[in-house]
Amino acid sequence: MADQAEQLREMMSNNAPEKIARRHDSKKNRIITVASGKGGVGKTNMSVNMALAYARLGKKVIVMDADLGLANVNVMLKMIPKWNLYHVIRKQKTMKEILVETEYGIGIVAGASGFSKIANLNEDERQNFIDELNTLSSADIIIIDTSAGVSSNVLDFIACADDAVIITTPEPTAITDAYGIVKIIATEIDSLEMGLKLVVNRVHNVAEAKKVADRMTTIAGQFLNVKLEYLGFVYDDPAVSQAVLRQRPFMVDSPRSKAAQCVQHIVGRMEKTEIREGGGFGNMVKRIFKND
Ligand SMILES: Nc1ncnc2c1ncn2[C@@H]1O[C@H](COP(=O)(O)OP(=O)(O)O)[C@@H](O)[C@H]1O
Ligand SMILES: [Mg+2]
Repeated sequence: MADQAEQLREMMSNNAPEKIARRHDSKKNRIITVASGKGGVGKTNMSVNMALAYARLGKKVIVMDADLGLANVNVMLKMIPKWNLYHVIRKQKTMKEILVETEYGIGIVAGASGFSKIANLNEDERQNFIDELNTLSSADIIIIDTSAGVSSNVLDFIACADDAVIITTPEPTAITDAYGIVKIIATEIDSLEMGLKLVVNRVHNVAEAKKVADRMTTIAGQFLNVKLEYLGFVYDDPAVSQAVLRQRPFMVDSPRSKAAQCVQHIVGRMEKTEIREGGGFGNMVKRIFKND
């Protein structure tokens, strides 16, 4: 541990990049970006099922699938969106046209891999894209499911979030990678202004979850000086893989399962945390420009 701490301190002292400024205008909706270091830890399941839990609270929810390589959300919900954000960027479609309403009462928007193209747009086209993205803000909750790791794309999506929910499992490799992404968020984005949250997935008991969470929140506080808030855990539950096979969210497929109860609990906790006036979509676009 001491070694790792040394290394981290060194990395931090070498790293003094300009942080992304965050906006402070008031708004009612909440943008939640779900991210992880390691792949396959449960981001897509968490995104979709959190969306359903929110919908049950009477919220209008949209899930944006930003994990384009694998196009998870559609597979999980057994649907194939024809259009994605790229078509909106290109002005071929409006946001309203690419938004797919599902039978579960949540809307789905497919992201785009060609985000770097935004930098080539002229001022009018850029503004049009921001305006289109902002039409999503009529939803109460926007959940953005990302791909694993810390590509610039993922950071773009985190830059617009009010909350970044980091998912890990108790596996040491997943924990190390989760710590890695927290570190990059802390370095690149002014995360003190955003709710940085942790969910431990696939645990076998409460104590196991707590041990992982304590370790991560302590290290984040001590070495990165960020507040990582433990939101809760999800049991390792066969209902999850069964639902995935059936291409239905487990909140619907097994509403009384342990996993479903955990997600409902997590959303309850989330609702109790204050919305910290996060980034907004304009911030995401700003970040994309800055990278170019
Ligand atoms: N709580 C859980 N209990 C049991 N299996 C799970 C759980 N969460 C995820 N899984 C399994 O892990 C697989 C990957 O989950 P997924 O949400 O697609 O991860 P990611 O989006 O992070 O790659 C799922 O298909 C499922 O089989
Ligand atoms: Mg996924």
